Amino acid sequence: MKTVVITGATSGIGLAVARAMLAAGWHVIGIGSQPVSCTMALEKIDPGLRQNIRFLAGDLMQQREVIRLAKLICLHLDENCDGRLDALINNAGCVRSWYATSEEGYEQQFALNHLAGFLLTKMFLPQLIKAHGRILFTGSGSHRGLDINWPDMMFKNHYRPLRAYKQSKLCNMLTALELNHRLTGTGVRAYVVDPGLVRTDIGNKKTGGLVSLVWTLRKRQGQHPDKPAQTYAWLCSQNPAPDGLYFYNCQKRAYSRYVTDESARRLFKLSEGLIL
Ligand SMILES: NC(=O)c1ccc[n+]([C@@H]2O[C@H](COP(=O)([O-])OP(=O)(O)OC[C@H]3O[C@@H](n4cnc5c(N)ncnc54)[C@H](OP(=O)(O)O)[C@@H]3O)[C@@H](O)[C@H]2O)c1
Repeated sequence: MKTVVITGATSGIGLAVARAMLAAGWHVIGIGSQPVSCTMALEKIDPGLRQNIRFLAGDLMQQREVIRLAKLICLHLDENCDGRLDALINNAGCVRSWYATSEEGYEQQFALNHLAGFLLTKMFLPQLIKAHGRILFTGSGSHRGLDINWPDMMFKNHYRPLRAYKQSKLCNMLTALELNHRLTGTGVRAYVVDPGLVRTDIGNKKTGGLVSLVWTLRKRQGQHPDKPAQTYAWLCSQNPAPDGLYFYNCQKRAYSRYVTDESARRLFKLSEGLIL
């Protein structure tokens, strides 16, 4: 049985992906921010498939929590999965309306949407390489039209919440691109999924009243999370691994001209300096 780790598996897109992977016969390790969201998520899984999923709680915005969970999961993989991880899906994400930082002092959207997945990927590389696994990031079409704000990556001097969110999704693109360069010849492939506009509560969690109201109206146009979940399941199961970086509805999609090898290298190096 193949194993996948999914972050943000307790609601929205991540929960739908967890269900799709279970239905495809995978063993799923899902991460949520709180024990209570994990318990509630488990109740939403088909009782007949629950024995194949395990939820773990931890605040991935804090690097010590990323490290704690990764160590726990590595132990589980060693004991139960021959030290192999077939897929890692870095999906947990947040939206913020004002400047707030993680324990390490990093802007929260940057810390969760980019650095958490970056660190988790680094920690699981031996297991992923052993399985010739796949690394998926949940990106967004909103990564287009902007470059990394290199002089002030976390918008400390002038906070622009939406720009910070979009930039975190550009970081996902650049990270996947650089991973594919660095992991050439290992059998591991990295991808970014564009889920489209999806009906979830992401804009209603820890955001200001106006952002929450706008999201409540906007998400009504969104598709059900089951739709993008198909693309994750497809990318994890195709053999041979599909060529390409950015996928929407199981098809390659064009991406921003700011997704360059030079920026990817630069971000990777900077990010390495920001993790514990
Ligand atoms: N919805 C859209 O239209 C859309 C479009 C493009 C991209 N995306 C991306 O899709 C991804 C999933 O978002 P969603 O729309 O499905 O929203 P969601 O339903 O709010 O899901 C977010 C998930 O991330 C987890 N999470 C949040 N903060 C966390 C933390 N500090 N530590 C650990 N886990 C945390 C949540 O866990 P808890 O429930 O336990 O807090 C939840 O499982 C995000 O990366 C988002 O940027 C969404």
